[in-house]
Amino acid sequence: MITRRDLLKSIPIAAAAATLPRISRAATQKPVVVSTWNFGMDANREAWKILSANGRSFDAVEAGARVPEADPNNHSVGMGGYPDRDGKVTLDACIMDEIGNCGSVADLEHIVHAISVARKVMEKSPHVMLVGPGALDFAIAQGFPKENLLTEDSRKAWGKWKADNHYTPKEYHDTIGILALDSVGNLSGACTTSGLAWKYHGRVGDSPIIGAGLFVDNEVGGACSTGKGEAVIKIAGSHTVVEAMRRGASPQDACEEAVRRIAKKQSDYREFQVAFLALNKNGESGAFAIAKGFQYALTTSAGSKLVDGVSLL
Ligand code: GLY
Repeated sequence: MITRRDLLKSIPIAAAAATLPRISRAATQKPVVVSTWNFGMDANREAWKILSANGRSFDAVEAGARVPEADPNNHSVGMGGYPDRDGKVTLDACIMDEIGNCGSVADLEHIVHAISVARKVMEKSPHVMLVGPGALDFAIAQGFPKENLLTEDSRKAWGKWKADNHYTPKEYHDTIGILALDSVGNLSGACTTSGLAWKYHGRVGDSPIIGAGLFVDNEVGGACSTGKGEAVIKIAGSHTVVEAMRRGASPQDACEEAVRRIAKKQSDYREFQVAFLALNKNGESGAFAIAKGFQYALTTSAGSKLVDGVSLL
């Protein structure tokens, strides 16, 4: 016969078991950093300087994300990013640490390092997200210099687009998402972009939205996305990936589950690219994309390499 005492003893254990993440028992590989696309190699190099010195994953992902932000030849992140239809370069970014703290900026103009402003939002304000002129005022108050982000190259490309004046939000887009596991086993992530080229002024994609462009749960893993932000927001993409890993899916299978959900629910999925990248608590990584061509940069103590993402099409 089950006594009341037996029941009281068993309920919390059963409840806890139901919510415990089911991570594989493979030996943990750490530190490790992964980031989207081939320009992730340079980002990883900067992040690795911190990780290899036993630094914090949160500092590493910020340092990595700042690399493409400062590169005027990268037309989808930071300085040199392609502008919106009105010729304005507007940046979206977010960052998340190992205890679930996060900060975000959207539609931010004139500041190169949107990721560092996002970090300041997290650390120096009572909020998670600041947008537009309010985000700019905050950045300036925090000491960030105001700069022109529209390079001559980007201005010319915008002029050419205006001559054609067509727009569909389906161009492939190369956001940087970066995830790191540090030497003490803590996970963090960051994501930063100038968003879709020639977007409507005021358009915000997935990249600054916690749960869409980035999500980290230090008990389970982290995920980030690149590609058409509208498609990712509709399925809360990165959160979907992390929840699949919580149920025991490998990083690659978790990314595939999220991509297949987009394909199931968005009939025009063949017209655009979305890729998810994930890193779990054991330091295992994986990625899955709608279309061919997605790569991610992987850096461990064994070195750095570009890994081809598996794709649906
Ligand atoms: N994934 C970047 C964007 O859609 O803005």
